[in-house]
Amino acid sequence: MEDDLRVMNHPILGDLPEKKMVTIYYQGQPILAREGEPIAAALLAAGIKAFRKTVHRHEPRGVFCAIGRCTDCMMIVNGKPNVRTCVTFVEDGMQLEPQDGYGRRKVDGGDAK
Ligand code: FES
Repeated sequence: MEDDLRVMNHPILGDLPEKKMVTIYYQGQPILAREGEPIAAALLAAGIKAFRKTVHRHEPRGVFCAIGRCTDCMMIVNGKPNVRTCVTFVEDGMQLEPQDGYGRRKVDGGDAK
């Protein structure tokens, strides 16, 4: 996936500085991410906006507050559910899965490992 949704040239902040790129995997699909950026930023840059589904109505949710307060951006990260992706930074090889409802671990009868 391309990172064409990033602001590469900001009129006030200037050019986006060069960064090492890492690869993260969303549902097994590789996505290039800038080292040190939040998971949510990498997914939004790749055009992915829905990160989880609500518990009762299964409605899609994504970034809302972007400061770690609302939990709308929670995903299953490396098998761990309920990770707030707006305040968790990418790591090379990270595996991401959308979360449907409560993030229960597989050992508790859920989808996550
Ligand atoms: S968007 Fe609110 S906690 Fe991540």
